Amino acid sequence: MEGLNLLKKNISKKIENADDVKKLNEIFQEYLGKKGEIMQAVKSIGKLPKEKRAKAGKEINEVKDFLQTKIDEKIQETKERIIKEAGEKEWIDITIPGKRIKTGYIHPLTQSIRSAVEIFQSMGFSVAEGLEIETEWYNFDALNVPKDHPARDVQDTFWLKQEKDNKQGKKLMRCHTSAVQIHYMEKNNPPFRIVAPGKVFRHEATDASHDVQFHQLEGMMVGKGVSLANLKAVINEFLDNFFNKKVEIRLRPSYFPFTEPSVEIDIKCLNCKGKGCSVCKKTGWLETIGAGMVHPNVLKAGGLNPKFWQGFAFGMGIDRLVMMKYKIDDIRLFYSGDIKFLEQF
Ligand code: PHE
Repeated sequence: MEGLNLLKKNISKKIENADDVKKLNEIFQEYLGKKGEIMQAVKSIGKLPKEKRAKAGKEINEVKDFLQTKIDEKIQETKERIIKEAGEKEWIDITIPGKRIKTGYIHPLTQSIRSAVEIFQSMGFSVAEGLEIETEWYNFDALNVPKDHPARDVQDTFWLKQEKDNKQGKKLMRCHTSAVQIHYMEKNNPPFRIVAPGKVFRHEATDASHDVQFHQLEGMMVGKGVSLANLKAVINEFLDNFFNKKVEIRLRPSYFPFTEPSVEIDIKCLNCKGKGCSVCKKTGWLETIGAGMVHPNVLKAGGLNPKFWQGFAFGMGIDRLVMMKYKIDDIRLFYSGDIKFLEQF
C-alpha cells in the first residue's frame, strides 16, 4: 500500500501547517468526510480479492484513526492558542492603582457647626432651631431694637415683598440668630441653656470678610444668678475645645440693644499669637463674639419676669471662627461651590 502511506504523509503535513480551526475542518471534510479520499478507500475494500481485504482494511483503518486523532489534537491545540493570545492582548496590570470613587464631602462650615454644637452639648446646652424668614417683631422689636435703628434700613436687611402684619410687622430674612431667643422663651421655662446655629443674611456689599449670607451660633443661658462670669467660663471652654488649644480672650464693653451690659469678646489672634498681622489688622485681637446679659425688656418680650430670671446671650460668627481655624482668607470661598477648595476638608 504505497499510495496509502503517501496519502498519510501528505495529509499529516497539511494538518501540521493548518493554523486555524476552519482549515482543519476543511481537511477533515476533504479526506475523512463521507466523500473524502480515505472514506472512498474504505469503501473500495469490498472490491478487493477476499484474501487481501482484511489486511487492507486494517491498514486503512489505522491511517483513518491516526489522521482523525491528529486533526482532533490540532483543533484542540489551535483553540487553546487562540484563547491564550486573546488573553495576552487583554492583559490586566493588577499593580495599576484603582480609580478613586468620588464621594461627597461635608462642607467645612457644617463640620464646624457640628463640632461646635457637640462642645456646647457637653456643657449641658441643647439645640434650638429658628426660622430663616422672620418677622420684624422677632428680629427687632422683641429684641429691644429701637424703631429707628439703622439695621432696619433697606440697606442692611432683605425685606420680603409682603403685606404688613399689624402685630408682627413686615417679613425679612433674619439678620441674626437672636430671634431664636424669643421663640424659645415663649415655649420653654427657665432654667435652660440653648445654642442655635443657622444662616443669617445681610444686605451688604461682599468682600473677603463679608458676604450676604453667613452663619451664626446663638447661645443663651437663663436661670437664677447666671452672670457674666458664667458667660466667660462657657466661652473659654468652648474656644479651647474648638481650636484644640488654649485660646486667650478679652471682654470689651460694647452695645447691643438686647443685652445690658453688652460685651464684645475678642480672641487673641491665633495667626500671629497677638503680635499683630494682616488677619487681625495689626491689633493682635479678633472680634468674634457679641454677648451680654439679656436685657430685661427681652426677657419680658419672651414672657419671663426679669425680677426672677436673668441670663446671658451671645452670638458668634461661625464663618470667622472656621476661617481662623483653617487659615482661610476669603469668606466667599465657603459659598462658591469650588470643589478644589471643599476637597481640602
Ligand atoms: N446678634 C448679635 C449680632 O448679630 C450678636 C449678639 C447675640 C450680641 C447675643 C449679644 C447677644 O451681632
